[in-house]
Amino acid sequence: MNNISVAIDGPSGAGKSTLARAIAAKHKFIYVDTGAIYRTVGLAAQYAKVDSKDKEGIIAILPDVKIEMRYDDEGVQRMFLGGKDVSAEIRTPLSSIYASDVSAIPEVRSFLMDMQRDMAKKYSVIMDGRDIGTVVLPNADVKIFLTAEAKARAQRRFLELQQKGIPTPFEEVLRDIEYRDAQDSSRAAAPLKAADDAVLLDNTSLSFDESVEMANRIIKEKTGI
Ligand code: DC
Repeated sequence: MNNISVAIDGPSGAGKSTLARAIAAKHKFIYVDTGAIYRTVGLAAQYAKVDSKDKEGIIAILPDVKIEMRYDDEGVQRMFLGGKDVSAEIRTPLSSIYASDVSAIPEVRSFLMDMQRDMAKKYSVIMDGRDIGTVVLPNADVKIFLTAEAKARAQRRFLELQQKGIPTPFEEVLRDIEYRDAQDSSRAAAPLKAADDAVLLDNTSLSFDESVEMANRIIKEKTGI
């Protein structure tokens, strides 16, 4: 059977990664978290002491940015920068801002394109991001646009950061989400938007299990699996 690709796009904190992980486990797909790749470029900029708004500076470091995506024995994606595992470091609030800033640079986006497309060529994938259904995998078998109100997303991220031992005030989390929503949606290069053929899934008032059920129903309708 041909490889299947499922694209999940949507704003920050909509729960794309948790949903994608559950679907990957059920269907034995590889889960590709593309945000982690942008985060790793953002971290490279932090290491190089280049401001995330310094477009020319960021472009200049790209040839030296050595990013690898590896999967551990449990199938969990880990990000490596210059051979070092940076999977935890890319999750700090500063790394989120850096990721959003560097992802607005077209040269950064094209630098990371093949890495993402190669995964879908080799494996059945569920890939989450902002432009998967519109740009990276325009022919994906299934496209889901997952969203929720900003306050609901901020509340979830707030709890998640707390659990990860990075307690951050709610107001700051909400401000970050709103900053990234505005920037990710308004940028010229591959802005966050639903593909014309994406199915909209708003989970503001859905439980996690309900979201998974809805997503699985959409996948079944489109692919028969
Ligand atoms: O999904 P995330 O929050 O980890 O993503 C971090 C940033 O990367 C986000 O602000 C937007 C950007 N991004 C992107 O532009 N395109 C993608 N496919 C994935 C993420």
